Amino acid sequence: MRALLDWLDDRTGHREILREFLYENIPGGSRWRFVTGSALVFAFVTQVVTGLFLTMAYSPSAQTAWESVHYIQHEMQGGWLLRGVHHFMAQAMVVLLALHLLQVVIDGAYLAPREVNFWLGLVLMQLTLGLALTGYLLPWDQKGYWATSVATNLMSLVPLIGTELQQLVVGGSAYGHHTLTRFFALHAVVLPMLLVGTLLIHLALFRRHGITARKSAVRPDEYFWPQQVLKDAVASLLVLAIVVVCVLLPGYLSGNMSGGHLGAELGAPADPSEQYAAARPEWYFLFLFQVLKYFEGSWEVVGAVVIPGVVVTLMFWMPLIGRTKAGHAINVVFMLALIGGAGALTCLAVYDDYYAAFHPQPPPAAAKGEPPTRESIRYNNSRDYLLGVREARLEAERFNALVETYGGVPKEGANALGRNDPVIRGRRLFKRNCASCHPWVHGDPEGEVIIPSGDPSAPNLHRFASREWIKGLLDADRIASDEYLGKTKHAKGDMVDFVTGDFQDFKPEEVANIVKALSAEAALPYQQKEDAADSEAIAAGRKLIDDDSTGCAVCHETRDAGSVGDAPSLKGYGSLEWIVGMISDPAHERYYAKKNDRMPVFLPADDPDRGQLSIKDIELIARWLRGDTSLERPPAAEAAPSPAPGEGAPPAPPDERS
Ligand code: HEC
Ligand code: HEC
Repeated sequence: MRALLDWLDDRTGHREILREFLYENIPGGSRWRFVTGSALVFAFVTQVVTGLFLTMAYSPSAQTAWESVHYIQHEMQGGWLLRGVHHFMAQAMVVLLALHLLQVVIDGAYLAPREVNFWLGLVLMQLTLGLALTGYLLPWDQKGYWATSVATNLMSLVPLIGTELQQLVVGGSAYGHHTLTRFFALHAVVLPMLLVGTLLIHLALFRRHGITARKSAVRPDEYFWPQQVLKDAVASLLVLAIVVVCVLLPGYLSGNMSGGHLGAELGAPADPSEQYAAARPEWYFLFLFQVLKYFEGSWEVVGAVVIPGVVVTLMFWMPLIGRTKAGHAINVVFMLALIGGAGALTCLAVYDDYYAAFHPQPPPAAAKGEPPTRESIRYNNSRDYLLGVREARLEAERFNALVETYGGVPKEGANALGRNDPVIRGRRLFKRNCASCHPWVHGDPEGEVIIPSGDPSAPNLHRFASREWIKGLLDADRIASDEYLGKTKHAKGDMVDFVTGDFQDFKPEEVANIVKALSAEAALPYQQKEDAADSEAIAAGRKLIDDDSTGCAVCHETRDAGSVGDAPSLKGYGSLEWIVGMISDPAHERYYAKKNDRMPVFLPADDPDRGQLSIKDIELIARWLRGDTSLERPPAAEAAPSPAPGEGAPPAPPDERS
């Protein structure tokens, strides 16, 4: 063995190199406060290694990026761990950077002759933040897509070259596929190479000048090896342990420890046509996000460019300012204020986002014609954010289920998965086309994710046509409330008249039967059991409904009596066919006819080409309104990676497809 090492030493001189490396003198001995630099190097090496493995499965294009990350997260052996460590180690690096910077400034390690090395450190910091920013986009999910679009839009604010700069980064005039490939090149090649190069010079200069530490009267000098190396190793392992805990924590908290649920989240695939309400940068950029809130309109450039620019410039001046004792003190105070200020701004940003959670009661609405109060803007923003977060989780889970049902991702891309799905597409269409008038809300904060209306002026459609819904409609105290017809012109119509008048003569049991019978017309998927169990009550209710002297058939078309024209038909009320007809043309005689208030005609029967919605879209909305969450494979033509006919085998996962 010895002979072998001698042989090697003759040719490489490795002993000398090793000695150089390990026997660096530390005045005053090893210290815990010196570990931040080594821990940063350790974190960076972890990023390089995990990043390399991630690259092997990642596929950078707008069609395939989400799919490949989904594969890493849910199917690749240990992929969730790889991705989780990469995700959280990036955040650990930012924390370590702040600590390292603080230590360097407090210990005066930025002073002559180490100015250049301090500047290199600042460059390293910006490269690291650049890596974090570019990495956020790569999963190509809603969160990363919309948050990064905010960041790239800010670039256009840079004076003189703003637009050009933005186009350069975005890869043309449109934010999309070319942005992704650019960000990938920056994240995986350009920035890491720059970082390695700068880091090597940084380390070489560090060795040249030695550690900045005062000689100590009580503690003798020590070499780097073994005490400091031990401390560094312990610190690095501690960082790794914390990162692994972060990876496991989400699964532990939600009680689901299966791989796909651990580590970094993966949202629904990026969809340029679907704005994401909860777009936020990663937490370490939240302070900048908060600063931006204070500068609106043309002042935005101050928050986005001027302030960060001034702060970074000041940091570059620090070694010069610190030449005097007072200057050094100023620097230390500046550094502490900077980190404290960023921390405070981060807390404020989080508080703003969770404002609605801290205030269960919404603030009183402003009087008609008055602009909304600051309180209510704050409340609504926070509510939208919190709902956006829950919605994102709902959609992400749904996409997981869709991938499983389809046995893969269609070759047109992940968004094709949601195109035939009531929960994804039906819900989104409702938000876009209907929620301007109809709320879709309920009182259970833990329940289904509600859709508040911007200006609620039509019936709440949550569980439309279910027993609860009809029971409320037939309640004299509720029918003319805002939940139902209160804000429509029907508030003073025949139905309200009837329910608050003649209908009061029905016995409670009869009312209950009418409710059951009418709701059974809808044949709602979630009410199947109740409908089947109550056939007698339903039959009794139908009789009352069909009675054309005292019952509903006086005005309505019902199952076996009445006629259309005066009131919406109750025949098949709430069924898929009924709802589709209502959305297509509420002014049809079968529905509200001339009494139709403001509900738009979404698909005119005589001129379908001019409809705002296609029949397929209307069906998806109707299915979602009916709580139809069934998962189905699309017709063969639309399912892309379909197996050969007769073979049931699921298609190969994306990355094994050649
Ligand atoms: C401009 C406001 C407005 C929009 C937009 C709108 N509706 Fe309506 N909707 C109404 C009003 C008002 C009624 C009450 C009946 C009427 O006057 O037509 C109604 C009634 C309904 C009803 C019958 C329930 C009841 O209580 O009468 C359904 C179902 C419905 N809308 C679904 C939808 C869907 C789905 C969309 C989106 C595709 C939509 N509406 C868009 C205003 C609107
Ligand atoms: C006096 C006539 C009249 C009677 C009786 C009557 N309705 Fe109505 N109903 C209306 C009218 C008219 C509307 C449309 C809203 C309006 O303008 O008041 C309506 C609306 C409704 C709607 C909402 C339809 C929709 O688009 O979602 C339901 C449900 C309903 N009635 C159920 C009943 C039931 C059940 C009974 C019997 C217990 C009944 N109605 C009895 C006139 C009547």
